[in-house]
Amino acid sequence: MKDVVLTGDRPTGPLHLGHYFGSLANRVRLQDVHPMYVLIADYQVITDRDLPGRIQRNITELLLDYLAVGLDPAKVTIFRHSAVPELNQLLLPFLSLVSVAELQRNPTVKDEIAHSSQRAVSGLMFTYPVHQAADILFCKGTLVPVGKDQLPHVEMTRLVARRFNERYGEVFPLPEAMMGEHPLLRGLDGGKMSKSRGNAITLSATEDETAALIRKARTDSDRLITFDETHRPEVANLLTLAALCLGRSPQDVAEEIGYGGAAALKRLVTEAVNEFLCPIRKRRKEHSEQDVRQILADGDERARERAVVTLDEVRAAMGF
Ligand code: TRP
Repeated sequence: MKDVVLTGDRPTGPLHLGHYFGSLANRVRLQDVHPMYVLIADYQVITDRDLPGRIQRNITELLLDYLAVGLDPAKVTIFRHSAVPELNQLLLPFLSLVSVAELQRNPTVKDEIAHSSQRAVSGLMFTYPVHQAADILFCKGTLVPVGKDQLPHVEMTRLVARRFNERYGEVFPLPEAMMGEHPLLRGLDGGKMSKSRGNAITLSATEDETAALIRKARTDSDRLITFDETHRPEVANLLTLAALCLGRSPQDVAEEIGYGGAAALKRLVTEAVNEFLCPIRKRRKEHSEQDVRQILADGDERARERAVVTLDEVRAAMGF
């Protein structure tokens, strides 16, 4: 059976190079091989915050990021939670398939609660992984390209699919997670790359913003540049970033710099990143707000057609 790929992002801010090498590059490759859905997970934004914020702007920017990296709306169905009621309705029967204890055991949810600044933990915080099962199963997705933090959610999806099939008959495939093959890219301060930490190069950053961020990056004072992830993690991370952009190995890049020190390293990284982002920046400018609205409307409609069929099948299997 042919794979169906489903993946998505929460529209909470611009995508960065960590997203690119972790997941977007994979998607661009997969869109030529498999039917693919990319979800703009707008309802998931309110899991860990009180308000959706600048949601329309963030959706537009996320779609522009997708188009800029080369996702092709003629091949990929890009859609939103909020436009596909039939997907959301799957949440109800799916919630009946899992126990409260199982919801409370999810390590990613626990971690998010520990790092949340919300006063109270909402019910959605515990149930959104089941909603994510609906995201994946509405189109009978079988391959889910995600980062490591999402593995518990794919596990939850398999549990939901297995239990549904056991109780009501064979309806859903059991999806597999697909992890990026690239090494983890850290932020420019050595921590997790994240927009909120100000340590990430976003795909929409200008040349000057990119240069400024790299200028501020943490390094060390050893003039001989070597690739040593254990003892020189910040230098190694910059080498990895340049290597990914150049399609070379980090050792090779280190050798080229030799005794040039941090200054030469940063110069090389800046050039490599800006060169890499050049076609992405260009493609981003090719799309108007009007395009974006049309692409979303088309994707929402296609996703909805698929969701209607699955929900009918679910209702029939359950005897409603
Ligand atoms: N939770 C994912 C994230 O924060 C986004 C997401 C929502 C997702 N639904 C999904 C990813 C379904 C893969 C499959 O990045």
